[in-house]
Amino acid sequence: MKQLYIDHAATSPIDPEVMSAMVDNMLSISGNPSSVHRYGREARYALDTARAVLAASIHAKESEIVFTSGGTESDNLALLGTAYARQSEGKHIITTAIEHSAILKTAQALEKDGFEITYLPVSKNGEISLNDLQEALRPDTILVSIMYGNNEVGSRQPIQAIGLMLETHPAYFHTDAVQAYGLEELNVDELKVDLLSTSAHKLNGPHGIGFLYVRSQTRLNYTMFGGDQERKRRAGTENLPAIVGYAKAVELAEETRADKRDSYEKFKQIIISALDIAGVKYEINGTIDNSLSHILNIHFIGASVEAFLVNLDMAGVAVSSGSACMAGSIEPSHVLVAMYGEDTPVLKESLRFSFGAGLTKEDITYVADETVRIYQRIVK
Ligand SMILES: Cc1ncc(COP(=O)(O)O)c(C=O)c1O
Repeated sequence: MKQLYIDHAATSPIDPEVMSAMVDNMLSISGNPSSVHRYGREARYALDTARAVLAASIHAKESEIVFTSGGTESDNLALLGTAYARQSEGKHIITTAIEHSAILKTAQALEKDGFEITYLPVSKNGEISLNDLQEALRPDTILVSIMYGNNEVGSRQPIQAIGLMLETHPAYFHTDAVQAYGLEELNVDELKVDLLSTSAHKLNGPHGIGFLYVRSQTRLNYTMFGGDQERKRRAGTENLPAIVGYAKAVELAEETRADKRDSYEKFKQIIISALDIAGVKYEINGTIDNSLSHILNIHFIGASVEAFLVNLDMAGVAVSSGSACMAGSIEPSHVLVAMYGEDTPVLKESLRFSFGAGLTKEDITYVADETVRIYQRIVK
């Protein structure tokens, strides 16, 4: 039986070339980049080289890249760092109802500390409205944090238009680009963002490494106390092998971006036409037109998500519900709740397919066929 991993938005397998770049680094470099001797200088050179690759990938300066332990830390640093650096100017922050918990829980912590947070609603397509943002902006708004593309339904937000709107407002603009980085071409100047979060394990890089882009002159308090690494913005000895692996993963992602996007769009069509041909009753959560190419979230009308997931798993297909299963009870996805409200079967009948490197049309045809077969069995 085939074993197919269709959950690349959760995490993606490490590329063997990334692994070998990391192993080479570990075997050949033993110094600390902060040391002045020859061993330190070698490590510093490897660090600078990787930093240059990552900076160039988003059209940033090398000095604007702050290495972190991943998307969660980048998001925390963007919010907490801005909030505490700028609290004398205002304590109002705007974000959206569909952010990752790394943003939402940080925002909640800030609320407990006297900050006021506006959570912008989204449409049924999972998109915010620019009018809502314009109306929410206040003179004391110090930060707007809006994700580039959603991890559950894939909806993309109008980041460039938001950047333009904020040009005349003093608030910093942060985007969580964890799901978009690698597949979307990101240019921090065109997007006019001040802060941007990324994470390596979403693009076939290692776990536990990411960066926060911080535009020059952006005032940011550090959240980790210790050494002066990363221009005093993030203390702790840099995770050099992971950083080297990250740069390799990004180089590979850039080489394969166009082909991957093209394949993933086709994968979506393969699944959708199989459902159409078989007369499966479904709705797409989000839209096909304005979504990240690797994410397809579908509401299978009348199909319990638990039964679906278990049956797909038995057929060798690993997908996700986009909801956290805790102690047997399914917590409804806050993203779907924001899109459709609390009182709808969509919350218990939706599956997320997310594509990644190595998958073929034949694989996805198998996934589509199994999905149809299981749907027909569990929905009488
Ligand atoms: C949109 C988004 N932001 C942040 C994160 C957190 O990233 P990490 O797992 O690197 O901490 C994720 C991971 O699922 C994500 O999808």
